[in-house]
Amino acid sequence: MKGHEDEKADVGLVCFSLMERDRSDAFMIGDDPRYPFLQDLLRPLYQRLLKKYGEPLGAGRHRVAFGNPFVVVKLPLISEGFLDNTWELDHFRRWKDPHYARCRLLMVEQVPLLVMERLWLSQAPKPSWADFIDCQQVGQTPDGVWKAYDYA
Ligand SMILES: Nc1ncnc2c1ncn2[C@@H]1O[C@H](COP(=O)(O)OP(=O)(O)OP(=O)(O)O)[C@@H](O)[C@H]1O
Ligand SMILES: [Mg+2]
Repeated sequence: MKGHEDEKADVGLVCFSLMERDRSDAFMIGDDPRYPFLQDLLRPLYQRLLKKYGEPLGAGRHRVAFGNPFVVVKLPLISEGFLDNTWELDHFRRWKDPHYARCRLLMVEQVPLLVMERLWLSQAPKPSWADFIDCQQVGQTPDGVWKAYDYA
């Protein structure tokens, strides 16, 4: 049986290697030199989400996303992820734009988790409005409607 410290180290490595595949500026969970306490806050949540949803669907610079066929849960990786989660909800509520994937905020131990509708990402040609979304981060609902999933 692994000790607590080993477990914590593993969590960081799992996420690091996941992100390393996509980006060179990878961060470990909570590895934010400005706010060292984030590790203790975020790593247990990462473990809980891993247990509930299995391997993450993907990770960006600020958030890691877990999911099932219906919803995605975005956990902040660093402090900017806290802002992105709250801004995304704010955008969704303020603009009521049907191009934005539906979302809501779930506070768990003072961490804002963004719960978003699950979209399906593919290489299919994207609608022209996707050019207005950062890096064309859009996907489709099961009935083929295109929506943006990263609009913080
Ligand atoms: N609604 C969704 N449906 C399916 N997959 C999603 C959804 N939201 C996020 N993902 C997956 O999770 C990854 C990380 O989420 P997201 O892009 O929101 O994080 P981020 O840290 O804001 O990214 P960035 O580095 O682009 O700012 C995405 O690249 C995508 O693979
Ligand atoms: Mg993104």
